[in-house]
Amino acid sequence: MKIEVIEPHGLCAGVNSAIAKALQLKNVYCLHELVHNEIVVRELKDLGFKFVESVNEVPVGETVVFSAHGVSPAIRKKAEERKLKIVDTTCPFVDKVHRAAAKFSAQGLPLVIIGHKGHIEVEGIAAEAKEAYVYPDLPIGAKKIGVVSQTTMNSDEVKAIVKKLERNYQIVKMAEVCKATKLRQDAVRKFCRGADRNSRAVLVLGSEGSSNVKRLCEVAEEEGVKVFRAGSVAELYAMDFSSVETLGLTSGASTPERFFDEALSILRNCPRHIAIIMDGNGRWALARGKKRGQGHIEGAKTLSKVLKWCKDRSIKYLTVYAFSTENWKRPKEEVDGLMGLFVKMLKSKTLDFMKNKVRFRMIGRRGDLPRNLLSEITRLEEKTKDFDREFIVAISYGGRAEIIDAVNRVKGPVTEETFRNYLYAPDVPDPDLVIRTSGEVRTSNFLLWQTAYSEFYFSDVLWPDFSEAELDRAISSYAMRNRRKGGV
Ligand code: IPE
Ligand code: IPE
Ligand code: MG
Repeated sequence: MKIEVIEPHGLCAGVNSAIAKALQLKNVYCLHELVHNEIVVRELKDLGFKFVESVNEVPVGETVVFSAHGVSPAIRKKAEERKLKIVDTTCPFVDKVHRAAAKFSAQGLPLVIIGHKGHIEVEGIAAEAKEAYVYPDLPIGAKKIGVVSQTTMNSDEVKAIVKKLERNYQIVKMAEVCKATKLRQDAVRKFCRGADRNSRAVLVLGSEGSSNVKRLCEVAEEEGVKVFRAGSVAELYAMDFSSVETLGLTSGASTPERFFDEALSILRNCPRHIAIIMDGNGRWALARGKKRGQGHIEGAKTLSKVLKWCKDRSIKYLTVYAFSTENWKRPKEEVDGLMGLFVKMLKSKTLDFMKNKVRFRMIGRRGDLPRNLLSEITRLEEKTKDFDREFIVAISYGGRAEIIDAVNRVKGPVTEETFRNYLYAPDVPDPDLVIRTSGEVRTSNFLLWQTAYSEFYFSDVLWPDFSEAELDRAISSYAMRNRRKGGV
């Protein structure tokens, strides 16, 4: 599938400045959703924002944020009466429509709004006028009317409605959709009219409750092009693009660009499962005149960061090689230190699996592990078993040991597919990409069965120095390879 980024897309200036303003605040009240986007709302909730539907719910003297969609003069007055501190993020263009509505009303004209009844922006605009109608409702008997439109309407539809109104009324108007909305719609229309129209589809990124997102979907539908809409990574993973040859990617005016980038990398061949042979802790420590154990402690810090980076990149499975069946040969002091470090890490908050919604699993010979480590592992496995993203740690793990353990449990003849069921984590897909650090170019008995067709990336960096940039180099190297898997 070819991916085409549709330009322009995404955040408009009004939303951008509303979000920037809001991100400066903490523990405040926000009247309605700041913008209609679930990712933004979640982020603000994490900052302690409380979303309310009326200023009456805001305790006297507290701060209230007016959303980008604007508020009516009555609400503004009520907020002042309650002595609330007001942070107004109303989009300047919405504000302009408010002023036009008030002006027309002051001229004694009934106001007709071309917009969606019930939308918060429309309610705010309507409240500016003494007499307001939301099209198709119209004033009976009036000769002259004022006309405005909701800023995120379909621009063609607005034009057509204005034309119709002109047949029956004398009108004064400020009926235009905002420029950002119009440009995004025009770009989608242009993409849809591309040469191979029948094999094209549009993916609109944004939340279901967003008006401008819905309009982008409608534009593609009108052009007879298949449309997908995703508001989150989870929704994106659930989509089937198998019949699509060229996918146009766009996003609504309230969709954060980082979600767009994330979706793009998922669509463009990002690995789903990365496995890492974390090597080089000892050499890192030695080079600094430190004990090997210090290298392992630094390595553990790197691992916490890698977990986060993989989350940011929507990597669904991360498997790390922490201790091999061969590592038991190391001096007792180092082995004991490592086992202690594993317990400490699993107990600490740094790898907060519950908060990050990550399923923890261990692969390897459980019978070899100290009792306190095994009980911590089983406790975490049980507690996190319902999460979708997975972090799999290989301890006392050997690829040959895994195969032998499987063979000893097998009953009767097996195929490649049914043999898999006897491995330690049969439901986890094979790694797409295996990274080994520290310059060693070997697999050291890691996932022998599962890596039959994995891509390998060997990095010279020692594990404690492994960086986000190096992870991205590994992922890009993977994304550019042609995985033929025995085909041509
Ligand atoms: C890898 O680092 C971590 C474990 C085996 C636990 P090493 O300890 O193998 O580091 P080097 O290879 O000696 O540098
Ligand atoms: C592989 O590293 C095992 C882990 C990273 C846990 P080693 O450092 O133990 O492997 P060799 O001995 O270099 O092959
Ligand atoms: Mg090593």
